[in-house]
Amino acid sequence: MNAQPQKVALVTGASRGIGAAIARRLARDGFAVIVNYAERAGPAEALVREIEQAGGRALAVQADVADSADVRRLFDAAEKSFGGVDVLVNNAGIMRLSSIADTDDASFDRHIAVNLKGTFNALREASRRLRRGGRIINFSSSVVGLLQPTYAVYAATKAGVEAMTGVLAKELRGRDITVNAVAPGPTATDLFLEGKPQEVVDRMAKMAPLERLGQPEDIANTVAFLAGPDAGWVNGQVLRANGGII
Ligand SMILES: NC(=O)c1ccc[n+]([C@@H]2O[C@H](COP(=O)([O-])OP(=O)(O)OC[C@H]3O[C@@H](n4cnc5c(N)ncnc54)[C@H](OP(=O)(O)O)[C@@H]3O)[C@@H](O)[C@H]2O)c1
Repeated sequence: MNAQPQKVALVTGASRGIGAAIARRLARDGFAVIVNYAERAGPAEALVREIEQAGGRALAVQADVADSADVRRLFDAAEKSFGGVDVLVNNAGIMRLSSIADTDDASFDRHIAVNLKGTFNALREASRRLRRGGRIINFSSSVVGLLQPTYAVYAATKAGVEAMTGVLAKELRGRDITVNAVAPGPTATDLFLEGKPQEVVDRMAKMAPLERLGQPEDIANTVAFLAGPDAGWVNGQVLRANGGII
């Protein structure tokens, strides 16, 4: 009678940090969830068990988003296990900070490979395979506006993600698919905290008028809005979720 097929969300980089919070939240909202990870199978499998124990459906799938064959395999796995993909959350990303003078070729190339090409790889698959009525949520960063020293390469990749967001929203005309980006500010995850002295963390936490770091759940709430029914008219936008830092 009421048997709507279960919607499926594919979350890249969902073994920890913001992606894990998104997978948890979308599972709670009724999605079957693909928990993608690059290397850490243990936390990804543990998250799948947690979701299943709460009555949800999830599957952990290893794939390096920088590798287009891996990303095709990731979508294949989603289709094989859950029948298709309705929501892509393009969350996987890396950040290694250094001034332009001190950035080596390997660091530059890896940022481009994971943050820009990785996002592109998943956007290309999604634009070919996402079901009608789907949602795509990319990951930018508020540093695209803040432009702090040492963030040049990372911010450049995220500016590219914002550009692709606007273009793909238009390319998907007629398919009832929205494409948006979330741009978090400083959020308490490994990516932000690793290598920062406590005083830098404390100073950055005070930068937003709300005077705290974002938590992964703050960002997951924003993604849940964009993935859910209330955001149906929001398309081609970048939503900065950052406590007002910029
Ligand atoms: N935290 C912040 O302050 C902040 C602010 C603005 C924007 N963001 C953005 O938010 C997103 C999530 O960041 P986070 O803070 O949650 O990062 P994180 O804690 O470092 O977690 C990164 C996740 O991405 C996965 N990953 C990394 N490289 C990958 C690859 N090549 N292929 C597939 N998965 C890969 C990791 O998998 P493994 O566990 O297997 O390594 C992990 O699950 C990123 O796009 C980041 O740029 C974060």
